[in-house]
Amino acid sequence: MATVYLNGEYLPAEQAKVSAFDRGFLFGDGIYEVVPIYRGRLHRWPLHLARLRRSLAAIALDCRIGDGELEQITQQLLQRNSLENASLYLQITRGGVPGQRDHFYTEGCVASVFAYVTPWPQALDGPERPALTAITVPDLRWQRCDIKSINLLPNAMARQQAREAGADEAILIRDGEALEGSSSNLYIVREGGLITPPEQPRMLSGITRAVILELAGQHGVPVEQRGIARSELQQAEEIWISSSLRELRRISRLDGVDRHYDASRALYPKFAQWFHEDKLR
Ligand SMILES: Cc1ncc(COP(=O)(O)O)c(C=O)c1O
Repeated sequence: MATVYLNGEYLPAEQAKVSAFDRGFLFGDGIYEVVPIYRGRLHRWPLHLARLRRSLAAIALDCRIGDGELEQITQQLLQRNSLENASLYLQITRGGVPGQRDHFYTEGCVASVFAYVTPWPQALDGPERPALTAITVPDLRWQRCDIKSINLLPNAMARQQAREAGADEAILIRDGEALEGSSSNLYIVREGGLITPPEQPRMLSGITRAVILELAGQHGVPVEQRGIARSELQQAEEIWISSSLRELRRISRLDGVDRHYDASRALYPKFAQWFHEDKLR
């Protein structure tokens, strides 16, 4: 049985319990992070920590746990579960006061911190990862998608819709523009360069996206950060998505239409190679 961390304790997963009055349970009042761990090392940890702190600040969630302590908890989890290649799930909710359910932030709450690691045997496979399929769906989310909130119902609905259509990912369309996937960022390739939507409140600023943009800079690949019209997506030379656990993937079928892909001319194999080298550094 896996060992997880909850509020200062290491416990078997089935014994980890929080109060039914925790605001995470009642309101989805909390934030989270997912971090890849390669060979026992938290990948791009400072970027994940910075986003975690931004999310906490955005919802005024006062959590006293320090950065060093979060890292120690992860190392303990790796050790106790005998893992080297894994993913970390870290969630902080506002906590709650028994018997109280207020929309405003209830006074006297103590933040609840939950973390676990999942084995990831394929973590070092690569460089290229299996291609994925996608459908486009309307974006039903709120206006602060830049906060990594645990409120993921619209994302879950979109992913379920993809699954029912036999696809792996749902690409979210708002006001005619493709913003990102249900749990991934989006890129298209045009004339040897990358196009990806710019950081904004309508999407999550992915850490993997930051890595991809850094790699593009290092290798002199032009990047345009701008909106992608739905029609442009459908005609793109290449479509990719990225996230911490799926890493960088190309989309081989969109809305039921196969995407023709010439591996000798495509940018994807190069980025997959650079990405692979980066994670082993
Ligand atoms: C909506 C959304 N966009 C983008 C991403 C990719 O972010 P990252 O690369 O930090 O995993 C995620 C990851 O969960 C996500 O949920």
